[in-house]
Amino acid sequence: MTEKLRFGIVGYGVIGELHARAIHSLPDAQLIAVTDTTPEKIRKLAEEHSVTPYSNAQEMYANEQLDIVNICTPSGMHGEHAIEAMRAGCHVIVEKPMEITLVAIEKMLRVQQETGRKLAVISQHRFDSATQQVRKLVDEQAFGRLVLGNAIIPWWRSQKYYDSGAWRGTWELDGGGVLMNQSIHSIDLLQWLMGHVKSIYAYTDTRVHRMETEDVAVAVLRFANGAVGTIAATTGAYPGVGTRIEIYGDRGSAVIDNNKLGYLHLARDDSEEVGPYGGAKPQSHAGNSTGMTGAADPAAIAFDTHALQIADMMRAVRKNETPLLDGNGARHPVEIILGIYESARTGREVMLS
Ligand SMILES: NC(=O)c1ccc[n+]([C@@H]2O[C@H](COP(=O)([O-])OP(=O)(O)OC[C@H]3O[C@@H](n4cnc5c(N)ncnc54)[C@H](O)[C@@H]3O)[C@@H](O)[C@H]2O)c1
Repeated sequence: MTEKLRFGIVGYGVIGELHARAIHSLPDAQLIAVTDTTPEKIRKLAEEHSVTPYSNAQEMYANEQLDIVNICTPSGMHGEHAIEAMRAGCHVIVEKPMEITLVAIEKMLRVQQETGRKLAVISQHRFDSATQQVRKLVDEQAFGRLVLGNAIIPWWRSQKYYDSGAWRGTWELDGGGVLMNQSIHSIDLLQWLMGHVKSIYAYTDTRVHRMETEDVAVAVLRFANGAVGTIAATTGAYPGVGTRIEIYGDRGSAVIDNNKLGYLHLARDDSEEVGPYGGAKPQSHAGNSTGMTGAADPAAIAFDTHALQIADMMRAVRKNETPLLDGNGARHPVEIILGIYESARTGREVMLS
């Protein structure tokens, strides 16, 4: 039997707990130790699952042999904690966003190179079957010439949510508001499906919450392949409506609605030609999704896609391959978000590298 890979977690809050459940669900993974600076958070976990609790990550690395460490601390601490883990000899899975500045991201990539460790960044919706299916069709050029791609994120977060952690909604540790925290998932999918973003115009505002950063944003994008796109995002849309990713090309269209395939129609599968005014019925229609989403409640997310991404990292470690989303791939979504902030601040178009 293959030996189990030994896991540690740094940061046991809302998402750290979900990582623990995802690791427990994988037969060839074993959660060994968890670090949180608030030790009462991990006491129950330690009792129930014979996991060793630590209040300091250095102490955890000194005492435990760990293969992979999952970094689940506030976003602006990801770089420091991931670097500490890589320097201690561990492979790292870091929660999204990889970090909140490009300087911190470059430093993580440098340390990854120096240490030869693997670095994966969570974007669990890349593992949804709808996303995988649409990405495969993009690779096959089944949508023809891509013309328009949209990400719409009308979510709700209460003031209580922002008040639940001093870091939430701050520039220093959240790195932004609805874009950097909630919408990065959809922005990552949009750029994964539509391609690299070349330029951005944007507005952002704080309309509903008492917080430093934005709770509403719109951006107009130009992709490197010539297509255009939009992002419309808020955490001020009560009671929280699902996410929509739309991909349109001159040979087909797809809509991912609440993480499920809501609409798909491809010219290559037509038995009859679509008339000059279009309007064909979808070839695939999943209807309304009943899946768990974070649109209204940050804790209401299922752990199955996190488990798939953790399993992907385990494959990469065992076979010495690259995880599906490594540090290089996770840089661009953060670059897009920082470009949106810059455009909103300066009132100018921002060109990306
Ligand atoms: N992938 C997703 O769907 C998803 C969902 C929620 C959060 N996240 C990400 O996960 C990260 C954490 O978010 P959260 O909502 O779980 O926050 P949280 O505030 O609930 O949890 C963060 C935890 O880190 C601990 N911590 C702080 N400093 C520490 C340190 N130096 N060492 C060890 N532990 C420390 C805190 O005590 C807290 O328990 C954020 O980057 C967020 O963007 C991702």
